Amino acid sequence: KTIFLSDYQPPAYKISHTELHFELFDDYSLVHARLHFERASKGPEATPLILNGQELELVSLAVDGESLGAERYDLNDESLRVDGLPATGILETTARIFPQSNDSLEGLYRSRGLFCTQCEAEGFRKISWFLDRPDVMSTYAVTIDADAQACPELLSNGNCVHRETLADGRHRAVWEDPHPKPSYLFALVAGDLARVEDRFTTMGGREVRLIILVEEKDLDKCAHAMDSLKRSMRWDEERFGREYDLDVFHVVAVDDFNMGAMENKSLNIFNTSCVLAAPDTTTDLGYQRIESIVAHEYFHNWSGNRVTCRDWFQLSLKEGFTVFRDAEFSADMGSRSLKRVEDAMTLRTLQFAEDAGPMAHPVRPASFIEISNFYTLTVYEKGAEVVRMIQTLVGEENFRRGSDLYFERHDGQAVTCDDFVAAMEDASGRDLSDFKRWYSQAGTPELTIRDQWDEEEGVYTLTVSQETPLTPGQAEKEPLVIPLAMGLLGDAGNLRITLEGEPENTETDDNTHRVLIVDQPTQVYRFTGLPERPTPSLLRGFSAPVRVDYPYTREQLLQLVSRDGDDFVRWDAMQQLMVSALNALQAHPDNESLDPLLEAAVKAIGSQSLDPAVQADMLRLPSETYLAELASHGGTADVQGIFRARESLRRSLAGTLHDNWAALFEASRVTESYAATGEQIGARALANVALDYLATANESGVAAAADYYYASDNLTNRLVALRAVLREGEESLGAALLDDFYERFGDEALAMNHWLTVQAEITHGDAVTRVRGLMNHPAYDSRNPNKIRALIGGFANANVVNFHRADGAGYQLLGEVVESLNAQNPQIASRLLTPLTRWKNYAAGGDLMHAELQRLSALPSLSPDVFEVVSKSLA
Ligand code: ARG
Ligand code: ZN
Repeated sequence: KTIFLSDYQPPAYKISHTELHFELFDDYSLVHARLHFERASKGPEATPLILNGQELELVSLAVDGESLGAERYDLNDESLRVDGLPATGILETTARIFPQSNDSLEGLYRSRGLFCTQCEAEGFRKISWFLDRPDVMSTYAVTIDADAQACPELLSNGNCVHRETLADGRHRAVWEDPHPKPSYLFALVAGDLARVEDRFTTMGGREVRLIILVEEKDLDKCAHAMDSLKRSMRWDEERFGREYDLDVFHVVAVDDFNMGAMENKSLNIFNTSCVLAAPDTTTDLGYQRIESIVAHEYFHNWSGNRVTCRDWFQLSLKEGFTVFRDAEFSADMGSRSLKRVEDAMTLRTLQFAEDAGPMAHPVRPASFIEISNFYTLTVYEKGAEVVRMIQTLVGEENFRRGSDLYFERHDGQAVTCDDFVAAMEDASGRDLSDFKRWYSQAGTPELTIRDQWDEEEGVYTLTVSQETPLTPGQAEKEPLVIPLAMGLLGDAGNLRITLEGEPENTETDDNTHRVLIVDQPTQVYRFTGLPERPTPSLLRGFSAPVRVDYPYTREQLLQLVSRDGDDFVRWDAMQQLMVSALNALQAHPDNESLDPLLEAAVKAIGSQSLDPAVQADMLRLPSETYLAELASHGGTADVQGIFRARESLRRSLAGTLHDNWAALFEASRVTESYAATGEQIGARALANVALDYLATANESGVAAAADYYYASDNLTNRLVALRAVLREGEESLGAALLDDFYERFGDEALAMNHWLTVQAEITHGDAVTRVRGLMNHPAYDSRNPNKIRALIGGFANANVVNFHRADGAGYQLLGEVVESLNAQNPQIASRLLTPLTRWKNYAAGGDLMHAELQRLSALPSLSPDVFEVVSKSLA
């Protein structure tokens, strides 16, 4: 059933206060609820109260203390309707639920014995009957009873106000959360956990206890998350003026979790992979990810919890804004240009593909079947880019004023994206009505930019046209307001800019940077008084989530790589040089000689004052996924051709520049013991890129990689070496390293995720059979999302050549896993499907992908999650 934004109706009842009493047992749990309801003022007396509820066994039902006869209510699979209610009163229900057999990881479930909850978006209805929608906000009082030995920790939102010992070895805790919240922010945790505790004093002088709860064995992996939390709290005060509002903040780590983490009020629940950090189990990227996710969930306390969403179509209101906030935090904690390059890479590789595929939807979707399918790169990452563009348009100071106004105006409310933009308009005085099309229009706009040079007059003209390709359900596209940051590069560096029609230059001190506001189908910009023909430096800082088509020559790209004033543009120019070399190799596979311009670019990168981690990103080959996305934009992708060209370019870069890589490796390798500092991470990234090329170049490089593996004191280096050896070395050498890894880290679930992924990605041999074998390995667990993502997701997303095997065995493998997950964990099943939905992008395998989707669509009892993705992909 499709739900439309345009059908939104305010709730007929409010629930101002919610009392919950949980009795947790091993084979079932009882949930007693007392809902303090009140009919909305406009509602007629006969308005029934229709509560959401799924997979709940009704034990009792009463209103104001009187139990209800069958004529007063109607119960079905999805809801409980109660008739003849007074205008205000207390509705009491008792439900029996079965957390131990709940594999969907939604609602109340058990993970390795631990009771925990995941309610966003619509999981609360699997715990108790409720108006399970974000615009119904309630204060909560929660009583939890459980066995004292099995569950020494009993936690819920807010403050613990009471504890007592009960009969039969049981005990009780009572929690009260004074802040009204929607049901999706409710949380409960009960189990045997160890804790790490710290404190934070807020700017207003509030002493906050910070508590991270994990399994005893993981106590030594919490320091990085705790540190990140304290830095997030300070940063949010300084940058956004946001202070924490309770005396305690809990973070709990659970092994079985569908997503990264969840911002439940004062009781954040995290996937272990997004909170636990140790050198042997966490990569450098992992450390950075933990820092940003801890920050993200903490920032939600204001952008999400204090001010929440009116309905789920507004999801980006909290997610886009919060991703923007966490990206700014990461930029401030580490390297701003690195963060920008990596975010741009994600957007271009994955979000652009989503925007061009059958599930394309605007940042604020207009309809959905299953909201879980809309926790997407578009809502999160493109949503964050939309917020960033608002900041670019109104300026940083006005943006902060707008943010203050938004929080002040809407504190305690459930609001819409329009309310957010209105606050920005009111604080800045800028009209953003045309800009708002970004919220409602799907698809990635393409800017076509052409230039002209008038030598005589010294006038350089840029003609900028925009077009957004059509997407499912949107047959017309309007022009968007696109901030196009740019500069003009001359022989000696960035040129001073005079733009015709513009009041005197005010942009930057040195006057070499502009943000053009592109808002028409075609616009012409004339730059005057130029001493030489410039090279345009376009979309600086990735100022908008758009594609740019400008016909750069390879010489111009080299110039940008070497000298541009913007690190994103430099990185992007290098990507384009590599893509052009790869295209040439695909057209003429026999001509393997390395483009001298590419060689010069590699050398230029090394001589730059660029962040080492950005240099590493520039020296790595573009991913197969990105290349396939590029190729299928206006065509189809030949994955085998891409793979061969990429291998060939890797080999010629490795061979031709061998001495360069050897020198880079020696100069960058980290000799101190492991620390996840920006400095070490950057150096390691650069050394590891070099190592990978050395292993590609010859036998002694492979041997060096194997030595490096054995000598490493951290997971980052081990994985780089392992991957290189598996790709380039004798099979027995790779197998020995894999065995060694398993022997040393077999007990570490998080390290085993990587061990599975590395093998899922091996391109040679029969990868499908290898993956099937690993599905029966004790390190795998078909109920654990991390393991499924590591092995099956790793195979389908990263082992491109084998997933697209000509006989369709890769598609079948994915289809089978999706089929078996469909009933067990629909959210994960539907997410796993993504690579199959792109069938139109592949000339060779498209038919077989389509056939597999058709097979799935014919299965009985498809979950709404899988049904939506399959049916939209086949439409
Ligand atoms: N709000 C969480 C976050 O972004 C994600 C929760 C997603 N849950 C889901 N069922 N899709 O931090
Ligand atoms: Zn979020």
